Amino acid sequence: MRRPTLPYARPSITDAEVREVEETLRSGWLSTGPRAARFEEDLATRLGVRHALGVSSGTAALHLAVLAAGVGPGDEVITTPMTWVATANVVLHAGGRPVLVDVEPDTLNLDPTRVADAITPRTRVLLPVHYAGQPCDEDAFLDLAARHGLTLVEDAAHALGATYKGRPIGAIGDITMFSFHPAKNLTTGEGGGLSTNSDELAERMRCLRFHGIDQSPSARFGGRSAASYDLVAAGFKYNFTDLQAAIGLHQLARLDELNARRAQLAKLYEARLAGSEHVRTLGTAPYEHTHAWHILVVQVEVDALSLDRDGLIGALREEGVGAGLHFVPLHGLTLYRDLADPADLPVASEAGRRILTLPLFPDMTDADVDFVVETLERVVAGHLRSAR
Ligand SMILES: Cc1ncc(COP(=O)(O)O)c(C=O)c1O
Repeated sequence: MRRPTLPYARPSITDAEVREVEETLRSGWLSTGPRAARFEEDLATRLGVRHALGVSSGTAALHLAVLAAGVGPGDEVITTPMTWVATANVVLHAGGRPVLVDVEPDTLNLDPTRVADAITPRTRVLLPVHYAGQPCDEDAFLDLAARHGLTLVEDAAHALGATYKGRPIGAIGDITMFSFHPAKNLTTGEGGGLSTNSDELAERMRCLRFHGIDQSPSARFGGRSAASYDLVAAGFKYNFTDLQAAIGLHQLARLDELNARRAQLAKLYEARLAGSEHVRTLGTAPYEHTHAWHILVVQVEVDALSLDRDGLIGALREEGVGAGLHFVPLHGLTLYRDLADPADLPVASEAGRRILTLPLFPDMTDADVDFVVETLERVVAGHLRSAR
């Protein structure tokens, strides 16, 4: 019997999450309430930061981050083409312009040496992405941000639980965002998070997260009646709910265990693929770090094959391997085609033809990894040009 297709990601949900959701439903607090507050406290403690905020999605978190960083018309935000569309879309929403810079060949993380050449007087924010969960070269980005007076906003949608030189991702840049989408290392259904050590940035994000209503301590404790409020900006409805927090509280408590299993599976993939002639895993950054292993990306030597990468993903899915794609480089998408000439982003452009994502999630078995690798090797071998 054919086995059901193995997806590239699947959330790991236990009875603890289910019970907490049920208790929340019965509690009467469905929207932002005591569980949301507890989740934010737990996340701040986990990251060792002054402020952690829950929001409705990772995209909402990114939007608030670039607005809090002051991005407006005419401002440039330097980011990577190897990301989900949200990273650049929020820059447009704020009236700014995304500037795409090439990535490192081994890790596919934004290359800080190239970023240095792209900084102009209009640059306001550096927005690296910790691709696949492997930390970027934080010291290099901190140094660039300090030297040029820029705000470092980190897209850590893939990197909750990762560390750089012993420090948690989320406690390093000015603002870090996380995604709690069901495919991510921690899920709340949909949801996102923000972390910062700046009281001022936190206050701006809290205000914009809920319509633009003044959330400053003076507004909250300044003599207004409990029911009264003041509006100071045209903000958004991006608040985090107790139903999301009910799931997230237990996911956060299990994060180390979930990430440890991801790492085990990733090591198994690396061992199984080490001798492969046409498939290789991404490289390891040279500085001390722990990888969050959000996704398992491989690069395939597609020029040796009679089908392209999209064809290969289709062939794998036919065989029960739910391969994914992270990502079409931004400059390959209609909206962002004019942002960069592919020749100026050679590493990302080439990776865009070769990468695919193999199944990786904590509840997978070692035998699932064997199945994926065997299937991939068989499909590749069956489409070698020389074999025709
Ligand atoms: C790199 C990156 N940034 C941002 C996001 C946006 O997160 P969300 O889907 O929670 O809005 C994602 C989600 O897929 C992502 O992969």
